[in-house]
Amino acid sequence: MPTENRQIRLEVDELPKQWYNIIPDLPEPLPPPQDPETGPSRVEQLPNLLIRTCLGQEMSTDRWIDIPDGLRELYLQAGRPRPLFRARGLEKALGTPARMYYKSEFYSPTGSHKVNTALAQAYYAREDGYERLATETGAGQWGTALSYAASLVGLKCTVYWVRAVYRWKASRLNFMKMFGAEVHASPSDKTDCGRELYDKDQNHPGSLGIAISEGLEDAQRDPKAAYCLGSVLNHVLLHQTVIGLETQKQFEKADDYPDLVISCLGGGSNFGGFALPFVGDVLTKGKKTKFIAAQSDAAPNLQGEYRYDHADHAEITPLLKMYTLGHQTSLVPIKGDGLRYHGCSPIISLLRHLGYIDTIAYPSDEKHVFQRALMFLRTEGFLPAPESAYSIACAIDEALKCKEEGVEKVIAFNVSGHGFMDMEGYTEVLGLE
Ligand SMILES: Cc1ncc(COP(=O)(O)O)c(C=O)c1O
Repeated sequence: MPTENRQIRLEVDELPKQWYNIIPDLPEPLPPPQDPETGPSRVEQLPNLLIRTCLGQEMSTDRWIDIPDGLRELYLQAGRPRPLFRARGLEKALGTPARMYYKSEFYSPTGSHKVNTALAQAYYAREDGYERLATETGAGQWGTALSYAASLVGLKCTVYWVRAVYRWKASRLNFMKMFGAEVHASPSDKTDCGRELYDKDQNHPGSLGIAISEGLEDAQRDPKAAYCLGSVLNHVLLHQTVIGLETQKQFEKADDYPDLVISCLGGGSNFGGFALPFVGDVLTKGKKTKFIAAQSDAAPNLQGEYRYDHADHAEITPLLKMYTLGHQTSLVPIKGDGLRYHGCSPIISLLRHLGYIDTIAYPSDEKHVFQRALMFLRTEGFLPAPESAYSIACAIDEALKCKEEGVEKVIAFNVSGHGFMDMEGYTEVLGLE
């Protein structure tokens, strides 16, 4: 078997020195956050909630934003740059003429791409003199990433974790605690907004929107605490562009270029981080690449309405212009729970609205996506996170279309995390017991 391009590596000194901010390259101005018609101003509250540098990045129109040297050190410590693999085993099994490449965010120390922004937010929070970080988590990947980042930079961390997932991921809970984090099942009795729901139903499954409200309320009350969000916001997608920027350099080395860029999408940080540098090439260099965001039909937010909505359940955040299913809509829990969120990042939403991004939503029984993950495991050898199984399913489905149509496309997909702590999910859905 030819080994050429099987693994495309970057040297340590090829780690990007800047992130890519797509805002100045968008075909239309990004609609800004707004206040609802009634109640106190949420927009004016933002400087009290978000880390100063992150808020500056949120509004920035600079195309390139420097990654501080101290943070680049942390990226190196976390094992960046990460390899790009050519999926030759999978291609052979599928008998596809497509050339398939995947980025290996599963090499992350905590198991997902979330460390890329966790390290940035923790780094800036320490610079600003905060002592504690407060956040939400859905799948648990973001909570673990922030617990890890807080520990590396010497801050405390409090995590509100959607109860439906908290209940079944015992090892991930202990993982967060090992980093020194305090973790509460959400809705909890620790905040006013959590208590209101918890008192009515102590088994309330929770949602990411509720957990975000709890993290925000916690940080609002304590001047030494900064609130950190793991997805949706512009600065989060910005930090994640390190993935796509590395991938672009790797494609240059492989002397190839993707026709199709695929990744899974909950709030948009994974998809955005991987795809936005390539979207930039379409917007500014005339490239013809297509983009597909893979979702669950438990939360097909990109098929919702494009309108202003809150990012959280208790309406603490400003209104963001985004594709949304409604911020208080109940969504059925799934194993790939990191994809269960009512809204999609304003940047990705605008690009979708303008026709640059396609989407697919897979059935919420997850049998199809987990079967595809199994095929990937058996041919490529890596166990993906349940969320990443959606990227893989979409990439395989597209490679099979190439086979049917006899076209030789180049397909790039991101495997955003590993599934070592998600075996119960695989066992249940695939009926392995
Ligand atoms: C492994 C993994 N991949 C992808 C995602 C989706 O990321 P986002 O919500 O930013 O789209 C998550 C979210 O938790 C995740 O844990």
